[in-house]
Amino acid sequence: MRPQPRIELHLHLEGAAPPGFIRALAGEKQIGLKGVFAPDGGYAFRDFLHFLQVYEAATATLETPEDYHRLTRAVLAERAADGVIYLEAFLSPDFCGGGDVVAWREYLAAIEEAAAAEKRTSGIEMRAIVTPVRHFGPERARRTAACAQETAGKFVTGFGMGGDENAGRPADFTPAFDMAREAGLRLTTHAGEFAGPESVRASIADLGVERIGHGVRAVEDPALVAELAERGITLEVCPGSNMALGLFPDWPAHPIAHLRDAGVKVTVSTDDPPFFRTSLTREYECLARAFRWDEEVFRSLNITAATAAFCDETTREGLLKKLEPGS
Ligand code: ADE
Ligand code: ZN
Repeated sequence: MRPQPRIELHLHLEGAAPPGFIRALAGEKQIGLKGVFAPDGGYAFRDFLHFLQVYEAATATLETPEDYHRLTRAVLAERAADGVIYLEAFLSPDFCGGGDVVAWREYLAAIEEAAAAEKRTSGIEMRAIVTPVRHFGPERARRTAACAQETAGKFVTGFGMGGDENAGRPADFTPAFDMAREAGLRLTTHAGEFAGPESVRASIADLGVERIGHGVRAVEDPALVAELAERGITLEVCPGSNMALGLFPDWPAHPIAHLRDAGVKVTVSTDDPPFFRTSLTREYECLARAFRWDEEVFRSLNITAATAAFCDETTREGLLKKLEPGS
């Protein structure tokens, strides 16, 4: 049976690369990948910072627009089989052409063409969020924002920072976010994942984001939880990612249900599914078990996601229609 339609707002394209895909690509190019894989063939890492290193080592096998074309098709086909009808993927000009805008255009064209082909095959719709990598620093973030400005449009609709949340302060990245906003891009950033409530507050104040990637550690500050609810900031929550990276001891201890009960707009995504050995199907199963959430709760989470999606209004209306019961 096909799963109910799902909207996924937070997924890193390289982080969704099936390990077999990366292993095959490395084999074709005779690139050594020591320390990337566990004995069972999945990705291996010890903690968050080591995860970022392994992620970058695996990503180094993706060297050309054609590699990204193949990756995009593989990832979208897998997401569609997991019930995803609309996906926002983080794309990094740092990995796609080393921050050079001419090269970035070529990578992006290949990715967009693959997305169009996969839409014809499985119906999945994709939008891109251009991503500065925080630990690469503010100067490279500005170069990334320049790439985003050049390509903002129907496909590239957002700008959102990933990487090590403890590298620098949000204010260091204000110029990059200002550039993206001026280009008409919608804004999000990772915060409240590996830093506390002050990181979420500063991201809202200094970057002007309307969504937060993760944001779950806001729960440590009840006043911030109330503020998120009041301002209608949407959290792109990735519970399985948080569990795999050791943020919470078990699924019932994950704060997503508490945040939702407090009126915060929460959504569910997978972040880097093969790294965290997850899928949306697994996320929904674990959440249903931990919090007794039923189909109606998941439908409302997907409506929240469609409402907060960085897409045009016609696309949004189409998504909301597909989420209606019995459609
Ligand atoms: N890049 C890929 N996955 C990430 C995560 N969970 N946090 C920050 N940066 C990332
Ligand atoms: Zn992420």
